[in-house]
Amino acid sequence: MSLLIKDEAPEKLIDENGKRVDGRGLKDLRPIKMEVGIVPNAAGSAYIEWGGNKIYAAVYGPREVHPHHMARPDRGILRVFYRMATFSVHERKRAAPGRREKEISMVMENSLSPVLFLELYPDSALELFVEIIAADGGTRCASITVAALALADAGIPMRSLVTAVAGGKADGKLILDCSGDEDKAGEADLPVAITWFNNEISLLQFDGIMSLEEFEETIESVKESLEKIHEMQQEALKRKYIDIRNDIKENESEHQHEGGDQEI
Ligand code: CDP
Repeated sequence: MSLLIKDEAPEKLIDENGKRVDGRGLKDLRPIKMEVGIVPNAAGSAYIEWGGNKIYAAVYGPREVHPHHMARPDRGILRVFYRMATFSVHERKRAAPGRREKEISMVMENSLSPVLFLELYPDSALELFVEIIAADGGTRCASITVAALALADAGIPMRSLVTAVAGGKADGKLILDCSGDEDKAGEADLPVAITWFNNEISLLQFDGIMSLEEFEETIESVKESLEKIHEMQQEALKRKYIDIRNDIKENESEHQHEGGDQEI
């Protein structure tokens, strides 16, 4: 019996009909599902499934800063702890946070901070824990997107949500939302985050090679899909409150029935 572990990127990422390995068109997003308010012990939380990525985000605080020397007397700080579970990738990941996790935590702090009113929390920290349960390319973008939902769920005042997605290039074609294989074997990967209150880019990283025209075209298609993902974020937030309202209504009608039975 042979044990097959799929870790090799396919040689051809795009076929002659312009279809990608997972059947997507060049500018298609992977399926995305988001849910808000799922970690009971957190001040706010959210979960996202984005293609093969499965990610939880949980917010705690504002609370005291440890170590104390990191505290700022004039404002709060946002601390992000992006961590990949040891089983989240094909090859077992070491449990200790590596350089990549520290880098992604830092770029997440930078891309999310502009929407927060950190001046409201002097000497305190907002702590955001991001756990990657399964990874398949684009985890930093999915993490930023789900983290913004967790912050909103915590009732932290925000200027707007933040949304992220990666553009890229594979087999000479411009693509959107790179999968793990496309990230590994493609020619370029360009993760972008936007802060909606000012329409500014708060994350722009680039790995690979692309012409200036290709870069501009990629940014245009990234912008279009950021809008779609932003709508999904808003829907996920609304769904939570629709569910709560329905629960309250259900409870009320149950009480009415109980009361009615007693009268009889
Ligand atoms: O996840 P993201 O694209 O933001 O970051 P990356 O550093 O470009 O990593 C791309 C992908 O490589 C991840 O999403 C994982 O699927 C994979 N990866 C891995 O297999 N093992 C690691 N230790 C780190 C990443």
